[in-house]
Amino acid sequence: MKDKVLKLAKEKNAVILAHYYQTPDIQEIAHFKGDSLALAQKAADTDADIILFAGVHFMAETAKILNPTKKVLLPDLNAGCSLAESCKAEDFKKFKDQYPDHIVISYINCSAEIKTLSDVICTSGNAIQIVESFPKDQKIIFAPDKNLGGYINRITGREMVLWDGTCEVHDILTAEKVLKLKTENPDACLIAHPECAQPVLMLADFVGSTTAMLKYAKESKSEKIIVATETGILHEMQKDSPEKEFLIVPSNETCACNDCAHMKLNTMEKLYNALKNETPEIILDEELMNKGRNSIVRMLDLSKELGL
Ligand code: 13P
Ligand code: SF4
Repeated sequence: MKDKVLKLAKEKNAVILAHYYQTPDIQEIAHFKGDSLALAQKAADTDADIILFAGVHFMAETAKILNPTKKVLLPDLNAGCSLAESCKAEDFKKFKDQYPDHIVISYINCSAEIKTLSDVICTSGNAIQIVESFPKDQKIIFAPDKNLGGYINRITGREMVLWDGTCEVHDILTAEKVLKLKTENPDACLIAHPECAQPVLMLADFVGSTTAMLKYAKESKSEKIIVATETGILHEMQKDSPEKEFLIVPSNETCACNDCAHMKLNTMEKLYNALKNETPEIILDEELMNKGRNSIVRMLDLSKELGL
């Protein structure tokens, strides 16, 4: 199946982009894998005719907005995101109206409609720098992740107004579980994704995007690393450092892992079928794409200026 997907991709001049939360088999056949920022950057400058996105809906939607004339395929259109889901445009408009003197910085994990209501987009890989690119007294609404927004507020000393959204995978990781792992493994360090809740982030030795976590894990002198994020990241981490031990923070009593149900909807078979049939395709209204593009392009331009 892997060979068939790659053969089809070549025949159709398709590029396969994959996020680090995809299953190892999908990560292995991807032409490019990365965090949300790197994937958006890659989508912005690909010369492929088709983008096959092994990720979730907001990622493929961003790729489509950046490439309105290309075909963007998402193997399973149900691959959503609890953060995007938490922030409906009609509710967000009302929220935004309460703060007329605020600008809006939105996490890329949001719908195209929210992107049209935002001044600039950010990812976990550039959020602090994007926020700090605005003057200290600039009033800001940050949506939709209150954990990432709260983390940025603590780091930058800002008081951004936060939309009340969370990632259903990271938000349920608890400090109790982390402390238990730390007690059992006193020599281990802890790395966490900023979508985790404050008590977990407060315990972390390092907080960053998936790419930043991978870099830290690779360069760390620690032989044992506790990892607070989605399980998919372990594939690349273990590949980078086969001699190190990675301990994933479990999400609850019944499950020893934290898989994002949306990310894991993608399978090799669905990738193959998507490429073969050129569906499911991301179709967006022209005007929506034109309006939504500004905030994404602003993020890409700022990231370039900041060397990110
Ligand atoms: P990054 O890979 O950009 O850190 O994002 C994590 C995530 O939750 C993607 O849905
Ligand atoms: Fe959304 Fe969380 Fe899944 Fe990422 S891991 S796609 S933020 S639900």
